[in-house]
Amino acid sequence: TGFPSLVKNGLSKLGVPKEFFQFFSQWLGDYPRIPEAKGSISAVRNEAFFIPLYELFLTYGGIFRLTFGPKSFLIVSDPSIAKHILKDNSKAYSKGILAEILDFVMGKGLIPADGEIWRVRRRAIVPALHQKYVAAMIGLFGQATDRLCKKLDAAASDGEDVEMESLFSRLTLDIIGKAVFNYDFDSLTVDTGIVEAVYTVLREAEDRSVAPIPVWEIPIWKDISPKLKKVNTALKLINDTLDDLIALCKRMVDEEELQFHEEYMNEKDPSILHFLLASGDEVSSKQLRDDLMTMLIAGHETSAAVLTWTFYLLSKEPSVMAKLQDEVDSVLGDRFPTIEDLKKLRYTTRVINESLRLYPQPPVLIRRSIDEDVLGGYPIKRGEDIFISVWNLHRCPNHWEEADKFNPERWPLDGPNPNETNQNYSYLPFGGGPRKCVGDMFATFENVVAVAMLVRRFDFQMALGAPPVKMTTGATIHTTEGLNMTVTRRTRPPVVPNLEMATLEVDSSVNSS
Ligand code: HEM
Repeated sequence: TGFPSLVKNGLSKLGVPKEFFQFFSQWLGDYPRIPEAKGSISAVRNEAFFIPLYELFLTYGGIFRLTFGPKSFLIVSDPSIAKHILKDNSKAYSKGILAEILDFVMGKGLIPADGEIWRVRRRAIVPALHQKYVAAMIGLFGQATDRLCKKLDAAASDGEDVEMESLFSRLTLDIIGKAVFNYDFDSLTVDTGIVEAVYTVLREAEDRSVAPIPVWEIPIWKDISPKLKKVNTALKLINDTLDDLIALCKRMVDEEELQFHEEYMNEKDPSILHFLLASGDEVSSKQLRDDLMTMLIAGHETSAAVLTWTFYLLSKEPSVMAKLQDEVDSVLGDRFPTIEDLKKLRYTTRVINESLRLYPQPPVLIRRSIDEDVLGGYPIKRGEDIFISVWNLHRCPNHWEEADKFNPERWPLDGPNPNETNQNYSYLPFGGGPRKCVGDMFATFENVVAVAMLVRRFDFQMALGAPPVKMTTGATIHTTEGLNMTVTRRTRPPVVPNLEMATLEVDSSVNSS
């Protein structure tokens, strides 16, 4: 209304073309302009970048523009805008910068892929993570966590503090290697070249995601940098290993008599790779390797980070830990968890839900507009780089009561498991819409099993004299100097609930006869 729209109506009546008219409209201030955050980026370089973004969110609101020299980003912290981008109009967005940064390691794997390649691969991969597969993985989670328990047991005996972040990273690497391509990294026990190669590549991906200048694209530097040489050697080792594993698996598939069907699973090798080859995936394709590498990385660092921050949070909130241990004692005793137990470990699940709220992994989702759109009432052009700050959504002071408090009780135990849909995009630990995480069930079970088995056996305290735990970021949130903890064996005598149940059953059969 007012002067600008008078001019607009006048111009359109004169038959002025749309583009011209849009230009004038903007110039005349008819369209609201996205708030622009002004500030120096020097602050960003010293701390995890999502922290200054939170401060800016409190000042500028649910969508604002942040400019660094020639680059600019739209920062989204509003649930309805996030829902619009991720779900309602997801076709108008691509992975943008993320795909560029990750190309060297993931190629056209499922996380960076867009358009038709993504559609085809999503349809191939999602069925591999069927219910029977996820259920079969529970045993694997238990065995791997048991290996970690043995390690902690030794540390407890020796009275040595442990750095939990690196142990969690090894735990989840062992799990994901087996789960995705039936390979035992055994990284909790030994340090092999392949384990080091995986870490070299991961660190490079993280360095690239926070680097101000893409030095890896400079032609001469590319060839002489010792760091890049090391990365390329590591990549070659991983790719060769993957090729060997694919060949090995293909031989198994050719020899077996199993018919491929919806819940197909080879009991000896339930891996995702086995499913994909049995379903007819092409063995020699770079696409298959890209997808395996993508799942290796996606499923490894994320879960390791979730466990790290969960134990950090638990160490700060002894009442939550006590309640958690009570539940685990009564449901699980000292057994390995089964799928039935997982349904009963409700408080443990809420602890993971709440840890993912306070420390979302990754803390921001990256998109680029490939079409014009309107976000929060503001028209935006194609080619805009967008960060959806999950960190801001999850800590918004207007939405969450005591937003910074670790309070698993905020979700009732008899209510639904919180997710992006039932929380209206105020909570999106696994993203949302068509690009939502394919491993959400897998990861939740993995984390619940690990937390349950660990707190059942041990108490965890921050180590005396340990450096304060600060955050730094690559793709996920890391600690700056590790999570140093003192681990002690719990003195409580183990209750074995199954045995009690068994006794009860015997009793009742005695009575009825
Ligand atoms: C995508 C989180 C574990 C495989 C995503 C996304 C999030 C996420 C937020 C959406 C990214 C976006 O929209 O840009 C997590 C967390 C995990 C976890 C917090 C652990 C706690 C896993 C595991 C796997 C996996 C175990 C594999 C078995 C993937 C894949 C995608 C994805 C392939 C891309 C899906 C697509 O674009 O179609 N994950 N993830 N994730 N995740 Fe996970």
